[in-house]
Amino acid sequence: MSKNKKTFFIKINGKSYRAKEGQTILDVALKNKIFITRLCYHPDTVAQGSCRLCLVEIKGKKGLFTACNTQAEPEMDILTDSKNISRAKQTNLELIFTEHCEECADCIYKYNCSIKEFAKENKVKINKFPDRKKDHPVHQFGPALIFDSKKCIDCGICVDICKKVGACFLEYEKKGDFYEVTPSSDPKKDCIYCGQCLTHCPVGAFEGVGEFESIEEPLKQKDQGKTVVFQFAPSIRSTIGEEFGMPHGSIVTGRLIAAIKKLGIENVFDVSVAADVTTIEEAKELIERLGDKKASVPMFTSCCPGWVKYLEFYQPEFIPHLTSVRSPQIIMGGLIKTYWAEKNNIDPKDIVVVSIMPCVAKKYEIERPEVMIGDIKPVDHVLTTREFAQLLKKHKIDLKEVKAVAPDPFISAPTGAGVIYGASGGVMESALRTAYKMITGKKLPKLELKQVRGIEGFKKAEIDIDGKKLKVGVVNGAANAQKILDELKENPKAYDYVEMMACFGGCIGGGGQPVPVNDEIRKKRAQGLYNIDNRKNIRMADESPFVKTLYKEFLADHDNVHKTCHTTFSKKEKEVHPTPYKK
Ligand code: SF4
Ligand code: SF4
Ligand code: SF4
Ligand code: FES
Repeated sequence: MSKNKKTFFIKINGKSYRAKEGQTILDVALKNKIFITRLCYHPDTVAQGSCRLCLVEIKGKKGLFTACNTQAEPEMDILTDSKNISRAKQTNLELIFTEHCEECADCIYKYNCSIKEFAKENKVKINKFPDRKKDHPVHQFGPALIFDSKKCIDCGICVDICKKVGACFLEYEKKGDFYEVTPSSDPKKDCIYCGQCLTHCPVGAFEGVGEFESIEEPLKQKDQGKTVVFQFAPSIRSTIGEEFGMPHGSIVTGRLIAAIKKLGIENVFDVSVAADVTTIEEAKELIERLGDKKASVPMFTSCCPGWVKYLEFYQPEFIPHLTSVRSPQIIMGGLIKTYWAEKNNIDPKDIVVVSIMPCVAKKYEIERPEVMIGDIKPVDHVLTTREFAQLLKKHKIDLKEVKAVAPDPFISAPTGAGVIYGASGGVMESALRTAYKMITGKKLPKLELKQVRGIEGFKKAEIDIDGKKLKVGVVNGAANAQKILDELKENPKAYDYVEMMACFGGCIGGGGQPVPVNDEIRKKRAQGLYNIDNRKNIRMADESPFVKTLYKEFLADHDNVHKTCHTTFSKKEKEVHPTPYKK
């Protein structure tokens, strides 16, 4: 908000508070830690004003007002509690429960459900009226998400978020007397599997595919004589603690490894180690492209499958710009089933690789035929951060109580550059640290590239490499990526290198991460990763002992580099169609 905005005072429950022009009553209340019941409000979206639970009275004005979309005005005298407010809230909650079929056992909010809490507070009988939506369909969005429209209260948050993401795949449709949220049947619109609808829905109408049903599957395979190994993504170490009541941004790397081992898993790989490989390959490719007049420049990162799906479906003409380097999850899985398997004399067919990822799009990524290495599938299962937390809870393992173990110095010892992949700007920063050294023979004077850090959706910078200015862009949310694509259509030389992530804030804000989430939480999660980087002795991908050995023993062979570190992309047709309603 601009510094020149007029400020004034309003009263809430008899006390004076400073307000700024443009703020809503809810903004002022939240800033001053005054609780107002709310369901369809999320700071990432415009106010929906649909749940009508944030009711207040304004002295001198007739009726009740919704705090989330009523502007604060000078001298307003507001009450957040009264008999009228309680009665109206009760009725509105009862109406919400006629829309929402409770399926609490497998809901992502089973431990922190707002509507059940509100029902208790407001003495609302949940089953007073019959469920209006009991025959509504369940839609599956590829191998990534489930949308159970029986639970949807049509608040509109996901429609807005899907638009903000850039897919515009969720929309309102008139069904009888109601407008209801539905996936689009338009052949020009498709889901990109980012899962932002999932982390923003206030009533758990979305979940990952198999989110509750399949979490034990990987462990069962251990009992069938398979070698089950786990790998975890860079961002998980600063997010999963929240599932166990730890403060946002708590770093739990050692505890996480210990907890996986408690499940009987001997080998735990840190995907950040493979992120270091991605960095090296990506830095090499960037330098090659910049030196080749015929190559597609700018180069786009490709480690986010949500972004890749966006480009392949919505803007396939830009596919040649995607780096061919595989994502860290796929590189790590591939290396486990080739390099590590050979070293340990295990048949790759007997290895089951389980990823713990920030992401439902990673469930889609492992099914892409382009990632296969011959007939070897690099990764067999993806559990989101939430799913893995659920698995630990089922096995009565409390991450807070687990004693941290030291990471394996080889398979789980990344550099700082590999860890920051989890935050928006991290891939770019890691690749530039290494590219700078490859070009100049020296380290960057300052390894921290603050210009590309932060949770803002769109960052631009010029990085000086020996007198040459490298124009870079970092975006999160495909709608922001689209701004860059539009700019490139006007001026193809506007950028040299662009990092794109589908989720707000990058993977620390991914669709598989703990809920709720907002900018304050994203900042703390990202800071956690930067703190690790700051404390590391080794902060350059090319200095990693794992990487050095790997390039000596395995990646010296060009074929091995090709099959484990690179992939292809192609134009994609619409994959997700709405499930028809029962007649
Ligand atoms: S996963 Fe992303 S693209 Fe798909 S419906 Fe949800 S918000 Fe839209
Ligand atoms: S799915 Fe969730 S976020 Fe979307 S409209 Fe329904 S209740 Fe709201
Ligand atoms: S930004 Fe990260 S969490 Fe989000 S879809 Fe991409 S890879 Fe997954
Ligand atoms: S939070 Fe204000 S109407 Fe829903």
